[in-house]
Amino acid sequence: MNTRSTLNINEKGHLQIGGADCVELAKEFGTPLYVFDEEYIRTMMRTYRDTLTNEYGGNGIVLYASKAFSCKAIYAIAKQENIGIDVVSGGELYTALQAGFNPKNIYMHGNNKLDYEIIEALDAKIGCIVADSYSEIDKINQFAKERGIVQDILLRINPGIEAHTHAFVQTATTDSKFGFSINDETADNITEYALKQSNVALKGYHCHIGSQIFEKQSFVLAAEKCMNFVAHVKEKFNFIVQTLNLGGGFGIWYTDEDRKIPAEGYAEYLKALIDAVKTNAKEKGLELPYLIIEPGRSIVGEAGITLYTVGAIKDIPGVKKYVAVDGGMFDNPRYALYQSKYTPILANRATEECAEIVTIAGKCCESGDLIAVNVSLPKAKSGDILAILSTGAYNYSMAMNYNRNFIPPCVLVKDGKAEYIVKKQSYEDITRNDVVPDRLK
Ligand code: LLP
Repeated sequence: MNTRSTLNINEKGHLQIGGADCVELAKEFGTPLYVFDEEYIRTMMRTYRDTLTNEYGGNGIVLYASKAFSCKAIYAIAKQENIGIDVVSGGELYTALQAGFNPKNIYMHGNNKLDYEIIEALDAKIGCIVADSYSEIDKINQFAKERGIVQDILLRINPGIEAHTHAFVQTATTDSKFGFSINDETADNITEYALKQSNVALKGYHCHIGSQIFEKQSFVLAAEKCMNFVAHVKEKFNFIVQTLNLGGGFGIWYTDEDRKIPAEGYAEYLKALIDAVKTNAKEKGLELPYLIIEPGRSIVGEAGITLYTVGAIKDIPGVKKYVAVDGGMFDNPRYALYQSKYTPILANRATEECAEIVTIAGKCCESGDLIAVNVSLPKAKSGDILAILSTGAYNYSMAMNYNRNFIPPCVLVKDGKAEYIVKKQSYEDITRNDVVPDRLK
């Protein structure tokens, strides 16, 4: 079994996370349940932050890409760890502000920010907006003018890199909906346009090549291409880039097909990026830019697991054996979306040898509602507690109320003790906004 430092097996043969017995957690909080190890999250935030400090003189900031897992507690942790965040919606911005996050350390992304989101960002005085269209520049400029302010912005550029990841999570290929290509005139043109506006201050560029990427070379190549572009705009427009945001995307372990990277390994990714920026700046006679990275998955992904209770078991002889759990695509839509792979462990019998190949199914009325297909498990029985590993990123944040199932609660474990950070929904919560017009009564 490939476990992380946050996971171990106790003397009862139960899986533990952050020192808490998963069987006890299931008893105390019920299932399905998202469980996060606080120490793991903090270690990852510190790893990136300290690497930027030590290798780049702190001339930059780590932003936690909060789309990976957004709730007030995670913003509170990021604040304590003295890192920034990126948000991609009014909802994430609101949550962060509610958690007392310093708006100066908030960057806002999105390929189609809505007027109210731009206005909320300006009114909150967030540090920077990453603009991704002409119309957005117009709007930021206009709303900023109305408020008598000048808003710092970055422009999203697309270096045109194909990283090896699922097509839906690739973002820097030429046909992407994100960014402006630096391989033709499009990024030049929008740069020229942004520089002319009175109430936006163009500070530099942002790129993000995709997610769940392991090849260091893809990141390095992106950094090199961006630095070439930095040199190019200096030459062409006499525009000195102050800030360069190289995005996130570092891969994590889901199954043994993935590399298992220790915290120091992620520091190596960042070092490689820093080296590429430094080398290129030197070669081209450029000032070192204020450097930003924005990892999400690698901070929270392996920090989280989901606990389920096994229910119905259906054996289709010679075909397939389904082990159904009390969750499904409503708490983890990643198989349905990307055919993602996961590692399951029977948390109450974690030392037992695997005995069969099964498919873990959810409880939704949909055949594609699967969590893990053809995975090895000991012979599962109804009532067993099943843990799915590495579910900290893009699970809770993509959860939904399909079939009016509850989005499971989240607990945070520290020193073996768990506390709610997101409470369980109630029937009242899921019907709160329903309205029955009088004529239907
Ligand atoms: N910055 C930008 C602009 C992004 O779009 C993303 C992710 C990140 C940073 C963080 O990337 P990370 O370090 O987490 O890989 N729902 C998909 C992932 C979508 C990623 C979207 N953007 C999944 O479940 O795999």
